[in-house]
Amino acid sequence: MFNYRLINLIFTCSSLGLILYLFFSSFLLLPNTRILSHAADQFSYPTSIDHIVFGIASNAKTWPESKEYVTMWWKPDNMRGCVFLDVPLDDSNTSLLPPVCISDDTSRFRYTWRGGFRSAIRVARVVSETVALNHTNVRWFVFGDDDTLFFPENLVKTLSKYDHDLPYFIGSNSESFVQNRLFSFSMAFGGAGFAISYPLAKTLAKVLDSCLERYPHLYGSDGRIYSCLAELGVGITRESGFHQMDMAGNPFGILAAHPMAPLVSLHHTDYLDPIFPKMTNRDAIRHLYKAAELDPHRILQQTVCYDRWFSWTISISWGYAVEVFDTHVLLPDVLRVPETFRPWRKGSLLSTLFSFDTREHDEDPCKRPMVFHMNTTVRDGDETISIYRAMEKGNCTTTLGSPREIELVKVHAQKLNLSMKQLVTPRRQCCDVLPSSWREELEIGIRECHEDELIR
Ligand SMILES: *[C@@H]1O[C@H](CO)[C@@H](O)[C@H](O)[C@H]1NC(C)=O
Ligand SMILES: *[C@@H]1O[C@H](CO)[C@@H](O)[C@H](O)[C@H]1NC(C)=O
Ligand SMILES: *[C@@H]1O[C@H](CO)[C@@H](O)[C@H](O)[C@H]1NC(C)=O
Ligand SMILES: *[C@@H]1O[C@H](CO)[C@@H](O)[C@H](O)[C@H]1NC(C)=O
Ligand SMILES: *[C@@H]1O[C@H](CO)[C@@H](O)[C@H](O)[C@H]1NC(C)=O
Repeated sequence: MFNYRLINLIFTCSSLGLILYLFFSSFLLLPNTRILSHAADQFSYPTSIDHIVFGIASNAKTWPESKEYVTMWWKPDNMRGCVFLDVPLDDSNTSLLPPVCISDDTSRFRYTWRGGFRSAIRVARVVSETVALNHTNVRWFVFGDDDTLFFPENLVKTLSKYDHDLPYFIGSNSESFVQNRLFSFSMAFGGAGFAISYPLAKTLAKVLDSCLERYPHLYGSDGRIYSCLAELGVGITRESGFHQMDMAGNPFGILAAHPMAPLVSLHHTDYLDPIFPKMTNRDAIRHLYKAAELDPHRILQQTVCYDRWFSWTISISWGYAVEVFDTHVLLPDVLRVPETFRPWRKGSLLSTLFSFDTREHDEDPCKRPMVFHMNTTVRDGDETISIYRAMEKGNCTTTLGSPREIELVKVHAQKLNLSMKQLVTPRRQCCDVLPSSWREELEIGIRECHEDELIR
C-alpha cells in the first residue's frame, strides 16, 4: 500500500519543482500519508523485539522463585516492559530481570468467585498499567505469568504475520477440554501468554475498569480480559505455538508432536515432570533453551522418516527428542500426541479429554517406541548437528535389528529462517536415514521435501 495518489500526481505533472515539493511535503505534511504508509511498514520494517512491550504478572510471594525462569528468556538490553508485583521487594540483584512495577490498588473492585483469588483483578489490570507506561514505537503488547516461558524469536516471528495496526488478540486456549468448557473455548489462557496489538490495547486500556465492574463473578484475569475484548467485538486469533500446559506428569508427548508452528511459549513447568530425564526442572528448561538459541524456528518441529531396511519409523522433535518405532507407522498416527501425561485435575471422565489427537502411551516401556533425548546441539556454519541419547534404557530384551540397540541419534539440519510464505503456509520437512559409521548410531539428515514427495 503506497501513496497511490501521490505517485499518480508525480507522473501527471512535468515540473521538477512540483515533484520536489511533493517529495518533501510527504515528509512534512499529512497525518494522512503516515496512515497510508503504516501498513507498508510491516514489510519494510519487519516486526522485531524492539516493537514489543511485555507485562508480566507476578507477586511478592512467587517472584523470588519464578524470576530464575524469567532470566532464561528475558534480554535486559533489548526488551521492554515490567513485571508487576503487589508490593515492593528488597532485591539488589535485578540487572538480568525486567524492571519491577507495583500494581495500583484494586480494592475498590468486587470479586465474588468463591474460593478464587481476587488478585485476578490486579493481574487483569496489568494490561492497562502496561499500556500506561507510554512506551513509544510499540506494535504489540505481550502478557504472561511469571511462570510463562517465552521463546522471543518465535514470538516475534509469529506476530510478524499480522498487521499490528489492526485489532488483534492472539493466543491459545487450554489443552484440557474441561478447562475450556469451564472458562471458554474462545479465551486466550493467560499462562500461555497472549498478545494484543497496539491500537486494540489502547482501546482496551480505556474501558477495562468499567468491564472489571461487570465481571466480579469470573475466576481469573484472562477471563476478564477476554470478556472485555468480547464486548469490544474482538475475538481470539489462535496460534498453536502458545502453550498453557494444563496437564500433569510427563509433558513428553506435547513436546514430541508439536504442531507445525514456531514454539512461542511453555507454562506450568514446576507442576510437570522435568522435560529431560535426570535433570531438575530448571536445568531441563535451560537445556532446551540452549538448542532453541541455535535454531529457534526449528525447536520442537517434527520431522518423520522411515528406515526401509529395518522397517523403522523415526520421529524427530528437533532439539528435544527422537522416537524410533520398530514398525512402519503411518504418518498421521505418528503426528498424534503420545499420552504421556495425566489430566490437569482429577475428576470425571471429561477431565481425561484433551483438545488434540492422542495416541496410546503403553504402560510397558518395552512396548513403546525407543526414545532418545537431546544431549547436545552444535552449529556448523549454516548447519546444526544435534545429538540425542537413550537416557532411559529400561530392561527390555532386544532382538537383532531392534532400535533398542541404538545408543545415539545424530541429526543434521539447515538452520531455519522462516519466510512470510513459510509462516503463512507451513510445510513439514523431510528426512533421510544416512549411512552411519557405527551400528549403535543412527544418522539423519533433515531437508526440504520435493514438490510431490510423500512422507511414507
Ligand atoms: C546475581 O545474579 C546472577 C545470575 O542469577 C548471579 O550469577 C550472581 O552471582 C548474582 N550476584 C549477586 C551479587 O547476588
Ligand atoms: C502516560 O501518558 C498519560 C497521558 O498522556 C499520562 O497521564 C501518564 O502520566 C503517563 N504515564 C507515564 C508513566 O509517563
Ligand atoms: C551427554 O552425553 C554425555 C555422554 O553420555 C554425558 O556425559 C552427558 O551428561 C550428557 N549431557 C546431557 C546434558 O545429557
Ligand atoms: C533391570 O533388571 C535387573 C535384574 O532383574 C534389576 O536389578 C534392575 O533394577 C532393573 N533395572 C531397571 C531400570 O528396571
Ligand atoms: C532471514 O530471512 C529474511 C528474509 O526472509 C532476511 O531478511 C534475514 O536477513 C534472514 N536472516 C538470517 C539470520 O539469515
